[in-house]
Amino acid sequence: MEIRMLALLGKTVSIMENLGFAWLVYTGFELNLWERLLGEKTKEEILVENSNWNPLLLDHWLEQARIQDLLVCNQGKYRLSKMGKSIHEFRDYGLEALYKEFALHWGPRFAQLPDLMTGKTPRALMEGEMENELISRASKASELFVWPLLRGKCEKERWCNVLDVGCGEGVFLQRLAEEFSCLHGVGLEINPAVAERAAAQTVSYQGRIQIESCDVFQFVDNLGTYDCCLLNNNIYYFDRLKRVELLSYLKDFLSPGGQIGILTALRGVTPSLPIFKTHIPQNLMSFFLACHEGFEGLPSEREVLDLLEQSGFTQIEVFPLPFKVSHYFFARKPL
Ligand SMILES: C[S@@+](CC[C@H](N)C(=O)[O-])C[C@H]1O[C@@H](n2cnc3c(N)ncnc32)[C@H](O)[C@@H]1O
Repeated sequence: MEIRMLALLGKTVSIMENLGFAWLVYTGFELNLWERLLGEKTKEEILVENSNWNPLLLDHWLEQARIQDLLVCNQGKYRLSKMGKSIHEFRDYGLEALYKEFALHWGPRFAQLPDLMTGKTPRALMEGEMENELISRASKASELFVWPLLRGKCEKERWCNVLDVGCGEGVFLQRLAEEFSCLHGVGLEINPAVAERAAAQTVSYQGRIQIESCDVFQFVDNLGTYDCCLLNNNIYYFDRLKRVELLSYLKDFLSPGGQIGILTALRGVTPSLPIFKTHIPQNLMSFFLACHEGFEGLPSEREVLDLLEQSGFTQIEVFPLPFKVSHYFFARKPL
């Protein structure tokens, strides 16, 4: 057999493996199997608790999860492996939402690609579940990488008033308020369902965190109020023209010397480690976004730098997060 045929077969087999992984993880979340299998259980015990489940399919799920090293099996008793435990543990860090995105939304949307590319099918709006829930939840997956940088920056710059635009679930405002007792934050969130969850999650910081359910362009406050304005994981909601308008608009809310922080995954990034090819999923995410009406995909590093310069920000700093999963851009409003 030709070596390139072998390489292609290898790639094809790994697609099956990765698709299998995605479906296993998604099903495990939906049926709460990751939690159920924290302790040892036989297939029969699971079936007793869930008499309407299909035994044949459960048998295949358990077998596949074991083959993929997500479960270990000892004399017919299954329990989570180390990787299985990680899946369970990181569930709330956006992992569950990410897998739901892949299983329910990426596949069907990319299946339309030939028709989308040839214009037979017009680009559709983002599905309601993506818009109302999954996008904001999935972005929590970057929290573990982002938080140490954001924390350090806040400590150094002594931010007291932070405006978080497109705050999603309010995760970063919450962490900032938890860590810095003097900090006050306002979170703006256009989606009422998401804003409601953010408000519920930040209610214990009464008086210090305020969530407003509104479009950023409708936000009204005294000019020059904030020493930091965050735009985390949402620049791609705005097209190129709107981005310049947005940054100029936000600059007015900043005090002189105040900072803007733009957190975004980028297109066209060279991977830092060949074993962790983060440029592939980022570009795929950009591709997925671009399949939807109103989305242009992710920006390149050059585009974000040009945008900050055009909007009159200075002292631009770029911080790649570990493995370049995302980049944080900070820049200052001139004094
Ligand atoms: C991917 S989420 C990011 C959430 C959060 N910043 C994070 O990093 O975890 C982007 C959020 O921006 C919100 N958003 C998009 N356009 C907006 C606008 N014009 N005004 C306010 N919020 C907006 C979306 O509804 C969504 O919840």
